[in-house]
Amino acid sequence: MTDSSFIASRPGLEQALEAVLVPPSGSEQPQLPNNLPNKGIGEEATLEILAPIVIGGARHLGAPGAFAHMDPPTPWISWATTFWNASLNQNLLHPDLSPVAKDIERRVIDWLSPFYGMDGGHMTPGSTVSNLTALWAARDLNGIKIVVASDASHLSIAKATHLLGLEYLSVATDTSGRLDDTKLPTDLSNAALVLTAGTTNAGVIDNLQLAERASWTHVDAAWSGPLRLSQKHASKLEGIDKADSISISAHKLFFQPKEAGMIFFRATEKAHSAVSFGGSYLSVPNVGVLGSHGAIAVPLLATLMSWGQSGLAERIDRAMVLAETLWSKLDTHPKVELFGPQSSGVILWRPHNQSGLGSIIERLPIGSTSITSVDGKQWLRNVAANPCADIDELWPKIERALKKY
Ligand SMILES: Cc1ncc(COP(=O)(O)O)c(C=O)c1O
Repeated sequence: MTDSSFIASRPGLEQALEAVLVPPSGSEQPQLPNNLPNKGIGEEATLEILAPIVIGGARHLGAPGAFAHMDPPTPWISWATTFWNASLNQNLLHPDLSPVAKDIERRVIDWLSPFYGMDGGHMTPGSTVSNLTALWAARDLNGIKIVVASDASHLSIAKATHLLGLEYLSVATDTSGRLDDTKLPTDLSNAALVLTAGTTNAGVIDNLQLAERASWTHVDAAWSGPLRLSQKHASKLEGIDKADSISISAHKLFFQPKEAGMIFFRATEKAHSAVSFGGSYLSVPNVGVLGSHGAIAVPLLATLMSWGQSGLAERIDRAMVLAETLWSKLDTHPKVELFGPQSSGVILWRPHNQSGLGSIIERLPIGSTSITSVDGKQWLRNVAANPCADIDELWPKIERALKKY
């Protein structure tokens, strides 16, 4: 039986595309049903109702003023290939269901691994799952009992430690926000040491030369990992190639749609064997945390093919220049103090008189600046995830907010 819902409809898809090309304004009164409708209204009517809600109501991450979070805009080549993915619904769990997609994932991992001194890995939905996968391999290969990470490490490290039934040791950071190596236990023979390359709060990169001190070293490079592909910034990750495993979120500075992440291993065959299960209905082992999973490597490969390394680096470098520009402006403002030197495009600032950050953020456009806390103190935070941001547009708004302060 032919069912038109499963056949590409040119008018329907053009209607969907039009809403992307000319975004509708946000709907004030979402007209969504409160209960599951018994009778459907059809695809075109659904798109008409959803466009102002889903597109009109969304936060636009490539807008000139978007400079608050680690979430980038995505290139259109990734939208097109994600659309292909949705229409094809491949499943990398079984080779029968992904004759091409599996090779594409292997290829993209092979392209990227050498930048980190790793010999392979696989894609994940993000660094939360990558971190869990890495520590799982560390536990089962090296008999890790304890996970050691700085107090600025991402919550997913403590979460993974908990899930794996391991002990967690939080190590203090120094005044620059890096893991304080003088506070590390001398015996790390049964420990996985987690170093962060770009802390979530402040973008601080731990001393990666500490790798090899512990039985296993994992680098959580969710944010800063892509800097390795930029000639200008690669040296900030010096030492990363000594790690046993590395997490990177492709939906941060690789500009990918969520959910896209990667886990890399120095010795992938061994690591994969530790995180694999067989299954009677599978012809190949199920590697990693996920069961069914889609072809998220396709948009990443397409982005890297269309931009090349230099095109990716140009966008990363541009975002970093925006951070440097904003940093310089804040640095010369008489009312402002800054946290540390910024190295990976995350800027923390606040007025010298520290109270009332909430009232400043209320005067700034939503999505331009966020709030975070370091050592119990609040900071305003800007993040260079958007290479299309316009600091000349944002700066007068920050100045105005500070004037009234
Ligand atoms: C340092 C760090 N690690 C891990 C994560 C979690 O990554 P994801 O959101 O891709 O799961 C983040 C998220 O911001 C992060 O900043």
